Order: sequence, then C-alpha cells, then structure tokens
Amino acid sequence: MIPVCEPKLGKKELGYVIDCIKTNWISSKGKYITEFEEKFSEYCGAKYGVATCNGTTALHLVLASIELKPGDEVIVPTFTMIATANSVTYTGATPVLVDSEPQTWNIDPAKIEEKITKKTKSIMVMHTYGHPCDMDPILELAKKHDLYVIEDAAEAHGAEYKGKRAGALGDAGCFSFYANKIITTGEGGMVVTNDEKIAEMARLLRDQAFEPKRFLHRYIGFNYRMTNLQAAVGVAQMDLIDESVETRRRNAELYNSLLKDVGGITLPPEALWAKNVYWMYTVLVDDSFGMGRDKLMGYLREKGIDTRSAFYPIHTQPVYAKQYNGEKYPVAEELGRKGINLPSGNTLTKDQIRFIAETIASAKG
Ligand SMILES: Cc1ncc(COP(=O)(O)O)c(C=O)c1O
Repeated sequence: MIPVCEPKLGKKELGYVIDCIKTNWISSKGKYITEFEEKFSEYCGAKYGVATCNGTTALHLVLASIELKPGDEVIVPTFTMIATANSVTYTGATPVLVDSEPQTWNIDPAKIEEKITKKTKSIMVMHTYGHPCDMDPILELAKKHDLYVIEDAAEAHGAEYKGKRAGALGDAGCFSFYANKIITTGEGGMVVTNDEKIAEMARLLRDQAFEPKRFLHRYIGFNYRMTNLQAAVGVAQMDLIDESVETRRRNAELYNSLLKDVGGITLPPEALWAKNVYWMYTVLVDDSFGMGRDKLMGYLREKGIDTRSAFYPIHTQPVYAKQYNGEKYPVAEELGRKGINLPSGNTLTKDQIRFIAETIASAKG
C-alpha cells in the first residue's frame, strides 16, 4: 500500500532521543524543548514559541491565553479539521462558521464581516492543506473590529503569504507536529507569537498555571507540556524542514503535470501571492470525472493506493449538526464532497506519483 503520509526520520532523531534517555531528561524539562521552541519560532518569523503535546492543545492553549469565556464568539471556517472548532468549544465560547472561497479553499474573507457581532473576540483562520489564507483583508477587518487573529497553521509549516511565513501573520499561530505533518515530533504542537503577553500566558497555562510560589494557582491551567523526547525529534527535524517543504512542492509539481489533462479533476490552488506547501496534495473529483469521489477512493485502494477524503465541514458533523441546523455553506460542502487527499509524504517516489496519476486516469476509463 502506498501510504497517504509517512514520516521521514533519520540518525539525528535517534541520536538526540538516545541522549535524552542516557541523561534521564525524558519529561518536559530539558535542553531540547527550548532549542526546538527557539528554532521553530525563528523559522516562522515569531519571537516566542511555546511547545505543547499536540496541535489541538496548542489551539486550546492560545484561546485560553486570550481569556475566551462562555458567551464569546470566534469566527472559524466550516471547512476544516474538527480540532479548529473543538478548541473554541472547549473554552465555552461559540464557533461561528464561515464558508470557503473557491479560489484557495480557505475561509472567504468577503463573508467574515457579516458574522461579526458584539460577542466576537477572534477570527481563527486555517491554512487549508498548506495554502495560506488571504490575510490582508482579514487583518484589516480584525483591526476595524478589535479582534484577535489566530492562525490554525497545523498544516502549513513553511507556507508563505506575500513572502511572510504562516504562523506569524496574526496575533498567534498554532502548529501540529503529528507524524503526517511536514516536520514531526510524533505527537506535538506549538504556539508561536510576537505578543509577549500571549506567550507568557500560554507558558503559564501550559504548565498547570504553576507560579513561583509552587502549588498556589491563580488560573485553571492544563498539562499541555511537550516532552524533551518529542522536542529532541523536533530539533533534528528542523534540519530537514526546508527539504521537506521543497519535497512537498516538487511532488505537487509532478502530480500537477500528470493530472492537468485528466478531465474532471481539479488541481489544488496556488494563488499568485502564496507559497503552498501542499501538506496534503488534494484534488477535486468533479461530477464530469464519471466516477464519484468515494468510488475513486475504493478503486485506488484496490490498486494499493491509500487516500483520505477531504474534511466534512463542521456544520455537517453529527456532533455539531444540531448547533448549525439549517446553515448552508455551499463551497465547503462541495469541497467536502469532491476532495481527495492523495499520497503526499516526504518518502513518496516519482515512480509512485506516476503510478498514482496513471491509476486515476485509468479509473476514468
Ligand atoms: C487544521 C488542523 N488543526 C488542528 C489539528 C490538530 O492537530 P493534532 O492532531 O496535533 O492535535 C490538525 C491535525 O491534523 C489539523 O489538520
């Protein structure tokens, strides 16, 4: 089976992990945490990095750090992975949904303002499959209405908007280092920010809100700490980040050249102002393809090719269906119905990409 996404780990990762074990620094204190936070935040163009145990906790931590509370609202795209909306729900605030724009598949900046109310505290964007959002109009709206802009950049390590890296475009950015991400720590996450207050609060809340006077707490904190073992892998992965991004982009270029003439397949977007890192190389299977998305996934599976469907929009999720009953977001619904993530990992070979493209073309008949 050609996997959708496999991590690429080397001798350096092993060496650093062995170092943690030999020196007994295996929990959340140790030199690799700080080194990883510094290296990754600097890579993003942010002053501060706060490492967490996964991307979901990074999102929740940043929302807790801006002190969201029940009754507040956060604008999020409906076309996203469930953690984006869940992180808002964890705080007691309400995710308010916005449709995608067809050009980038990201939150549609033109549809945000109509959703802003007196309760809105933040706009949380998500850079879908590694394509950055069109940030200028979003930042302008946020300024006008005095809102935080949080980036769910879980999928967008190294992606660029007008030459600036994702994660440092708004008030704070959140990354995931799950095994299928552009760089990985197995499980892991990070909040990056240029805002000292957000960074300080995130550091405090990540660690049970322990303060210098130990065991006295002013806030309800969490244990969202990353281990030194995870960070050791992250430090080694930082040596590979540029190569990983370039591999993803080269793979996408080859896929694009092989699939562009296959009728009924829409290729992934890359706006003129964007550097897409193609975390997941995703195409749309249009009705004119002659075989539905789910059927194509089954066909590819039979040929030894693993794929994933695109996200089911938040308003269509069973767990959120009641909350968003009757709301319609046609672009997101179409993306959710037609989108397919093709194998995209750093270990994918050119021959495998050719085989996948040929198999898709043969499914068309
Ligand atoms: C957009 C988005 N947000 C959040 C997450 C959550 O990250 P994690 O799985 O590390 O908790 C993911 C994970 O893939 C994601 O794609």
